[in-house]
Amino acid sequence: MKSKAIYPGTFDPFTNGHLDVLERALNIFEEVIVVIAENSQKHALFTIEERQVMTEEITGEYQGVSVEVLRKGLLADYARQVGAKAIIRGVRQVKDFEYEFQMSLLNRQLYPEVTTVFLMPNVKYTYVASSIIKEVAMLGGDVSKFVHPCVLEMMHQKREEENQK
Ligand code: PNS
Repeated sequence: MKSKAIYPGTFDPFTNGHLDVLERALNIFEEVIVVIAENSQKHALFTIEERQVMTEEITGEYQGVSVEVLRKGLLADYARQVGAKAIIRGVRQVKDFEYEFQMSLLNRQLYPEVTTVFLMPNVKYTYVASSIIKEVAMLGGDVSKFVHPCVLEMMHQKREEENQK
């Protein structure tokens, strides 16, 4: 059986830092499902469908990657359903750790067979977070170093829509 992991996140939007983590996960697992989920603590700029479209475009060339959405329900249940034994999470800074620690232990409580694997992206992405990318882009700043051209285009469209309101 192929080794399978899920890589969940809000991915609002999917950044080059996320791609870096995905590439590292693919060095370990044969199959990685990118799971675009809702985070009840965050208000997303892109709909879950828009996030799926952009993530599929960005990851389309990678062997062993698929993109799914989790609209409702627990991630732990989803991992069990698809037979994933690992949950990939990217960690950039120490401040990420508290939340990640809590989530990983909760997910293990809900699905004991699952192990959360923390991966650190290339150091050049340590300060790249979707929230800051969105803020800079929506204010007209250049974020082309941090996201795929299709994300740039989609953020540009969102900015135009916002400006027309
Ligand atoms: O990119 P994010 O916002 O840090 O990702 C958080 C996410 C989406 C992985 C988390 O909110 C999640 O797992 N949501 C699905 C619902 C769930 O299982 N919540 C309990 C987590 S312990």
